[in-house]
Amino acid sequence: MKDKLNFNKIVFISHKASEAIEKPDSTITHCMVGDIVENITHAIPTESEETPVIATIFVHESEYASVRDTISIFKQWNFLYGFSVFIEDSSVNNPLVQKEDIFYIWTEKLKPIEFRFAVLNTFAALQRLFNREMSSNEYLARLMDMKQDQDNLIKIGRNLSIEKNSDKLLRLILKMSKTITGADAGSIYIIESNENDTRQIRFKYSHTFSKELPLEEFVLPFDRSSISGYVACTGITLNIPDVYELSADDPIAFNDSFDKQNNYRSCSMLVIPMKNHTDEIIGVIQLINSKKNDTPQKSTGNEAFEIILETSEDFRSKVFPFAKRYEGLMESVAGQAAIALENTRLFNQIQNQFEEFVKASVNAIESRDPATSGHSFRVAEICKRMALYIHNSHIHPWAETEYSPTQLKELEYAALLHDFGKVYVELAIFRKDKKLFPEEFENLVLKLDFLYRSIELQYRIQQNEILIARNSGEKDQQQTRMEKIDNEMTSMLNRVKEIKLTLTTLNEPTPLEEDPSDLVGHIHHEISTLTCCDISGKTMSILTDREIENLSIRRGSLNREERLEIENHVVHTYNFVKRIPWPKEFKNIPEIAWMHHEKLDGTGYPRGVTESKIPVGAQIMAIADIYDALTASDRPYKKALSHERAMQILQSEADLNKISMPLLEVFKDAGITNKNLEITEWV
Ligand SMILES: [Fe+2]
Ligand SMILES: [Fe+2]
Repeated sequence: MKDKLNFNKIVFISHKASEAIEKPDSTITHCMVGDIVENITHAIPTESEETPVIATIFVHESEYASVRDTISIFKQWNFLYGFSVFIEDSSVNNPLVQKEDIFYIWTEKLKPIEFRFAVLNTFAALQRLFNREMSSNEYLARLMDMKQDQDNLIKIGRNLSIEKNSDKLLRLILKMSKTITGADAGSIYIIESNENDTRQIRFKYSHTFSKELPLEEFVLPFDRSSISGYVACTGITLNIPDVYELSADDPIAFNDSFDKQNNYRSCSMLVIPMKNHTDEIIGVIQLINSKKNDTPQKSTGNEAFEIILETSEDFRSKVFPFAKRYEGLMESVAGQAAIALENTRLFNQIQNQFEEFVKASVNAIESRDPATSGHSFRVAEICKRMALYIHNSHIHPWAETEYSPTQLKELEYAALLHDFGKVYVELAIFRKDKKLFPEEFENLVLKLDFLYRSIELQYRIQQNEILIARNSGEKDQQQTRMEKIDNEMTSMLNRVKEIKLTLTTLNEPTPLEEDPSDLVGHIHHEISTLTCCDISGKTMSILTDREIENLSIRRGSLNREERLEIENHVVHTYNFVKRIPWPKEFKNIPEIAWMHHEKLDGTGYPRGVTESKIPVGAQIMAIADIYDALTASDRPYKKALSHERAMQILQSEADLNKISMPLLEVFKDAGITNKNLEITEWV
């Protein structure tokens, strides 16, 4: 970088003016005599030329106005001129005396020493003028740079705070760092602990503008042997003008193996520690080869993105040391980046904790009841596939509906936890496959057996009494009585057997043609007429009220109370899930899980709300839940239905406006069947 500017100095002399000069001074180079305008036009530099041209123009007073008017259109930062004018009218009233661009006036033939004096004086004045203008321009440019730096920092802070993906965040940090400093290449290193709890530096991400270079992560020891390691250990920002000019006395050494392998030439380097809010160094940003010339007047701001470094001449002439101001600026950027990275780490950690928590909760539900194992996972999988289908659909009514990855996660979590409330419900109720619990039915059978034996005993006693009184009466009469008792007993005992069979049938959940309560009522009435006493002589009731109620169930195996308890699982789910401090993007999880048994026509539970009050996620889940309940082969009280039969049932539910017809179409169009659900269960 050129801190001090040189000047190209040119003297122009018109023919007419040359007549008023004794003899041009041979020590003055670039002295051009002739057509002033033509000569000047050729000598004016282009705007991008670095060396400014200052010109002294010797003219006759009669030429001054036209020359000035012609060349004044060439006003540019790197071209300044001043006139020396020969005047014949030397009176003070001559208006030329007042002109600002006339630096020297002479009235008689100019001697060589006077000519030299005029030239040098004009050049000196022009140089002062140039420097004054430059410094005010530079000041303005610096102000603009500061403003741009501030804008950049605000923009960076905003962008960094939005990005939650660590890899994307690293790319973003590097991209912004390169944009600000005009660096051709850059790398990001992250400090981490290995399995032995030893700190190391991981080369995480790198990008070179001029070259497509291979990128592979590697680790460096956490020590001062590398430049990034030095910055990571000390927290000192390094701004090295040329890494190849580091001396043996410097505390750092440059390893040129990367340059050699990739035919690259690292020159200037800016290496900044990434410090978090507690000043802990969590990484390092390394920027290589600034292509921004920090001379404000020269910088267009975008040149770094147009310059490709290929030849050694490119590396020599187009690479500059990193401007001093980038040190502070990049320290601010690195600080923001470190905090953003920490936030992202924390965010991911919280997400992982939620993931672990959901995983543990689902495993708790699944392991509690092996009979329904896998239900939560299958429902979650179906929900995800339906939502993804909707997201990708360009067809009405889903063309405008999108599911972001976060929304998909929200639905997945809600589906995984939708039946969590079942852990609060007595397991026996879920496993109840007959109207009476097994021990209840066993007890009933024992009572019937007891009744059977009691009846038999009563008749046998009667027969014994006849036998004891054998000698005291008519034999024929006795025989007749014996036979009658025998017949009555057989009939009664057969009836008890029949009752036992009927009650066994009634205990099954399969619906009967006859109303089961009529049958049970009739049996109860019949049995009540029979006397059956326990060993204390107390009359026993064979059918209890609970047995009568349960055996009278028309459909399924559950009585009203048990059904309500099972239905209450959604309330338990809601109360449990609601207490979890979900991040705001998951705020709908409790409601979605709560409403998976609601029906569009308001006949569902627990609230009986209608379509407009049921979130789409819950409507999706309702279909997934019913489908899996129908097709799963693990329900104790019913056999698994085929996909086709399940679809018929779902269709009739949709026809009755219980579930959403458009969502059922999504289910069908997404091609979901119980055969193609690839469920990876968490373990
Ligand atoms: Fe449920
Ligand atoms: Fe369920």
